[in-house]
Amino acid sequence: MRDTPDASGSSQKGNSPQSDQRGPMTAPSRTAIRLTVNGVSHSVEVEDRWTLVELLRDQLDLTGTKIGCDRSECGACTVLMNGYPVYACSQLAVWADGADVQTVEGLAHNGHLSPLQQAFIEHNAPQCGFCTPGQLMTATALLNTVPRPDAAQVKQALVGNLCRCSNYNAIVEAVVAAGAHQGGAA
Ligand code: FES
Repeated sequence: MRDTPDASGSSQKGNSPQSDQRGPMTAPSRTAIRLTVNGVSHSVEVEDRWTLVELLRDQLDLTGTKIGCDRSECGACTVLMNGYPVYACSQLAVWADGADVQTVEGLAHNGHLSPLQQAFIEHNAPQCGFCTPGQLMTATALLNTVPRPDAAQVKQALVGNLCRCSNYNAIVEAVVAAGAHQGGAA
């Protein structure tokens, strides 16, 4: 076997092990954060590389929030952060420090579905159901700011939430009906 010169000019047998070039493995850095999820305060230590949806699903066992594309395209992972819909797959968990987060698990109260959830059922808005949590969270944010949206406003608000079953008409009808029925409260 030929000797292979290294950067210092000395030589060693064979190819240099990659570990020599990359240095010792280090543990992922972690950060302690506090956040409120569905009204419950949590103090958790998160790896800085974790996304918010990973924190919700894997650490807090809130698996209602779904992962579809995992790259800001489908909206399945939508949750509310401080009242605004965000893609939880594209938010780092550390960014949620101090935030008030609402997930689909926070919509029902005392075993009763929210009027919006009830409208989804009555209008057959869920088909396979995978996109439904994200649709519900985006629509909840809309109804919190536009009490009685018309169909055009609902379509505009839900533009970032894809439905692979293409059940868009029923979803829009459900949100419009929830607004009309509730007078605005989602
Ligand atoms: Fe986040 Fe698709 S899973 S946008």
